[in-house]
Amino acid sequence: MGELFSMGGLREMMAEGEESFQVTPWKVEGKVDYDRLIELFGTSRLEGPVLERLTRLLGGELPPSLRRGIYYSHRDLPWILDEYEKGNRFFLYTGRGPSGDLHLGHLLPFELCSFLQRRLGVDLWIQITDDEKFLFKRDVSLEETYRLGMENLYDLLAPGFDPRKVHILFDTRSIRLLYPIALEVARRVTFSTARAVFGFTPENNIGSIFYTALQSAPAFLPSQAAKRKIPCLIPCGIDQDPHFRVTRDVAEPLGYPKPALLHNMLIPGLLGTGKMSSSSDAREGAIYLNDSPQDVKRKLSNAFTGGRATVAEQRKLGAIPEICSIWALWRSRFAEKDEEFEGITQQCRSGGLLCGECKARLIPKVQKHLEEHAKAREAVKSWAESAIVEQL
Ligand code: TRP
Repeated sequence: MGELFSMGGLREMMAEGEESFQVTPWKVEGKVDYDRLIELFGTSRLEGPVLERLTRLLGGELPPSLRRGIYYSHRDLPWILDEYEKGNRFFLYTGRGPSGDLHLGHLLPFELCSFLQRRLGVDLWIQITDDEKFLFKRDVSLEETYRLGMENLYDLLAPGFDPRKVHILFDTRSIRLLYPIALEVARRVTFSTARAVFGFTPENNIGSIFYTALQSAPAFLPSQAAKRKIPCLIPCGIDQDPHFRVTRDVAEPLGYPKPALLHNMLIPGLLGTGKMSSSSDAREGAIYLNDSPQDVKRKLSNAFTGGRATVAEQRKLGAIPEICSIWALWRSRFAEKDEEFEGITQQCRSGGLLCGECKARLIPKVQKHLEEHAKAREAVKSWAESAIVEQL
């Protein structure tokens, strides 16, 4: 099975007494041990020489998400860089299953793509999987997932792209392009593989079993269209890796290069559990892109931190940044400069900075960020529709 392994069997692979958690594209449960995921998934850590090479190639400082280990794992990055240096430029591919509203964490891959496009001028393919959400969520109509897909698209484009180099595959609209490749993929993936990788049970509908073939297709489409092998780099949350293990497993038999991957950690929720979730009742547990300034203030004021029970205790012992949802936001983007980030971290640990004060500093930054996002979101409406690709 190559890189494939049993996702359903993830729990069985874990050692006795190890705290159990689960990461699949549709469910993240328990306290995720990201180091352990690297071992279980068989990916490589993004650090040291690879990261230095990436910095050199990009010619200048990397964004906080790359500098501070939020992008922490990869597959085949050195190969993509080798090809690039030989003049064989890659294209970027990422995507989004439409959901009610997007929160800050959802933009991580799109922000990285925006940065990479600005530095390297590479093309970006975006997949909007209205079909996926229809298949995996019982209570939603296709009209609704389509509508949400269009709404989400404006948010996803807001980080800033070159309109001439963005190609949007909107599954129910771009299906004629995707379907022939999805069929090639699907013929090579057995039910037992899909079950093992995703943990399907007899209750899953048959559409969801096929779906992974559609998520594979954009990784191959530009090569198919150009009739040559174009390397593909996929920035995504580590929870999407199972799909791309399937993609990579079938790539070479189909005559395409295996896509390379860059994985980000999932931003922890403000209430102190799991990833920022948009599917459950957790509206309070994340900063949504359309939150009002009052929402931001309330949510961050109530957020879970690594602080102590009393001020006296905190002054004496210091707080614990690694478990703090506010610190995670500073780290991800809101402390732009490393000196600022290190200052906050060090003052937090030493007890010099209390949680209330730290939150009060962060609130206006997040408010301003959302305000700028809203403006950028309006601006992309003039060209988003024309970037949707229905035929080549
Ligand atoms: N399955 C992803 C989601 O639920 C959507 C998606 C499609 C995607 N293609 C992708 C995500 C490529 C990352 C990379 O959001």
